Amino acid sequence: MDRSREIGAVILDLDGVITDTAEYHFHAWQRVAEEEGITFTREDNEALRGVSRRQSLELLLGEHIERYGEDTLEEIMDRKNRYYRNSLEQITPADFLEGAPALLAAIRSRGLKMAIGSASKNTRIVLQRLGIIEAFDVIADGYSVERTKPAPDLFLYAAEQMGVRPGQCIVIEDAASGVTAALAAEMVAVGVGPEERVGHAHYRYDTIAAVDLDEILDDLAQ
Ligand code: BG6
Ligand code: MG
Repeated sequence: MDRSREIGAVILDLDGVITDTAEYHFHAWQRVAEEEGITFTREDNEALRGVSRRQSLELLLGEHIERYGEDTLEEIMDRKNRYYRNSLEQITPADFLEGAPALLAAIRSRGLKMAIGSASKNTRIVLQRLGIIEAFDVIADGYSVERTKPAPDLFLYAAEQMGVRPGQCIVIEDAASGVTAALAAEMVAVGVGPEERVGHAHYRYDTIAAVDLDEILDDLAQ
């Protein structure tokens, strides 16, 4: 990693970084899997973090996908989204992950730009429910680019929209695919979660509350 860079922006993933919607995605997929008679565990779900709805379905079905026609696949995705959307109704401005508001405040107080970079097509709804849709300079979501994580496109799009170079961006991610995307974009990757999931990031913390922006910026400034 080129350390002689001036950081200008932070791009945050949404699900599993700002709020615990990763858990709601899991429960919605688990319900669908049960209905389809497919075993789907919390461990299996790790591979779905950060990836699009369509790719998630393909991972969930595995070889069973051959049983289904395109119309049924669409129906299953709609059903999962309905379950997920129902769970979003519970979200209020109290539903930040611990440490997320403080992290957003720290980013702002450092004068950095701030974007959301999420594969979700429900990004705006979640941000609205949390009451922070106005807080971001740019919202890059499931509608912004064709190729989703682990491709770098979504983060590159966010950087371009903020008017900063990719090398000036820090990405905060809870998904293996998101960390890979950040590395592919040649950004500074901060992983949140266990070593086996996000250990390939430049920096790793167990939780959002543990992310130390000053530590990262000081380290990068050396
Ligand atoms: C990502 C989540 O942010 O968005 C994935 O980590 C999810 O779990 C993906 O599948 C797509 O979300 P949606 O809301 O468009 O189905
Ligand atoms: Mg995530």
